[in-house]
Amino acid sequence: MIDDARPTGAPAGAPSPAAALPQTPPPAAVPWENLSREALRETIATELLTARARTAALTDCVEDPDLTAQHSPLMSPLVWDLAHIGNQEELWLLRNIGGRDPMHPEIDPLYDAFEHPRAERPSLPLLPPGEARAYAHDVRGRVLDLLAASPLEGAPLLDAGFAFGMIAQHEQQHDETMLITHQLRRGEPALAAPPPPPAPADAAALPAEVLVPAGPFTMGTDTEPWALDNERPAHRVELPAFRLDTTPVTNGAYQRFIADGGYDDPRWWAPEGWQHRRQAGLSAPLFWQREGGGWLRRRFGLLEPVPEDEPVLHVSWYEADAYARWAGRRLPTEAEWEKAARHDPAADRSRRYPWGDQPPAAEHANLGQRHLRPAPAGSYPAGESAYGVRQLMGDVWEWTASDFRPYPGFRAWPYREYSEVFFGPEYKVLRGGCFAVAPVACRGTFRNWDYPVRRQIFAGFRTAADPEPR
Ligand SMILES: [Fe+2]
Repeated sequence: MIDDARPTGAPAGAPSPAAALPQTPPPAAVPWENLSREALRETIATELLTARARTAALTDCVEDPDLTAQHSPLMSPLVWDLAHIGNQEELWLLRNIGGRDPMHPEIDPLYDAFEHPRAERPSLPLLPPGEARAYAHDVRGRVLDLLAASPLEGAPLLDAGFAFGMIAQHEQQHDETMLITHQLRRGEPALAAPPPPPAPADAAALPAEVLVPAGPFTMGTDTEPWALDNERPAHRVELPAFRLDTTPVTNGAYQRFIADGGYDDPRWWAPEGWQHRRQAGLSAPLFWQREGGGWLRRRFGLLEPVPEDEPVLHVSWYEADAYARWAGRRLPTEAEWEKAARHDPAADRSRRYPWGDQPPAAEHANLGQRHLRPAPAGSYPAGESAYGVRQLMGDVWEWTASDFRPYPGFRAWPYREYSEVFFGPEYKVLRGGCFAVAPVACRGTFRNWDYPVRRQIFAGFRTAADPEPR
């Protein structure tokens, strides 16, 4: 997603050495319905604090020179994200909702994502790390005071605490962005987390694909309180039958595509994808390197063998598309993905998540940076959808065949730059979140988008086909 376009984030706590990320279970995520005012305040505060703890863990684990350096021209210096989080939180909550005067109007242009592309940000007179932390911390203290006094209703930005939820999501989205920066950063590992659980006993016996029968389903939402404008409104979509992989495509399967000469055969590539493959010299997923007859990958500063049973990661849309053609299949459309994830055919309704309406727990999905990698294919049986599809939420973002377009009846809100300016054929939609996505920023309706050449994001894919069985 183009996270820089998102509204705001929040403050950072005092710096402290932190080698590992907080491993507390994710909070209850978004308020649903009929929460008391006090319970809603508590949920919001928990989400803001959870996001801030993660921001601190991602920025306290390296020294100042690593915070101010640009580790890739694709990314901002970490210290930019830190102050931008605070600046957006100030803009949306303190100024817009609270009516407060700007705290430091002179820094606003530095942290406006539309004013300065990422490659340009290191040359700006950015706040140094200590000042950036102090600014974000100051904003957060004032926001918590504002929250305590807010009626959380009476205006669209306030209803159900929407703007506070938007800010918590924004900070978590930047935390994902900062985790990508960590992945691109060279040097000793700075982050650690336990591995995900091993694949369940039934993983090897799962059917390769499921059939989703023809019929209508409800796509998008009118009721999810913290859903963003591009997820709205809910609308019925009629789909023909299709087949969908039970799990994301694995590293092992992807290696067979490579070994079969998939990168050298233009038959499998869209014309612009083939041109890009040649110009960029692509021959394997980003961060992979050959070692003897096998493959190694670099993951957060560690060099390790590529695990065959894990979903493939760091492939562009063009590579995913080429793999699918090689396999005699195709990428699913965004509507197919959402139907397989949310539709409950017995009740003819769409669920919030593949497993039902309850917020994500550890047994449902690999979310929230509890682990620094995807779980093996077939994991999380408790998180499977009504059609028996696994790992639709978490693990890896999944490229879809679809361009990023508005739903019928779309209305830009709270501002055009959130989604509307990105609609069009140049962006492809990704669905489902990844291990780096926080539960608060993940829903069955959530839509992500990016350029088809992008590979540094935590993206993989699964394939689909028309109804004939394999
Ligand atoms: Fe942003």
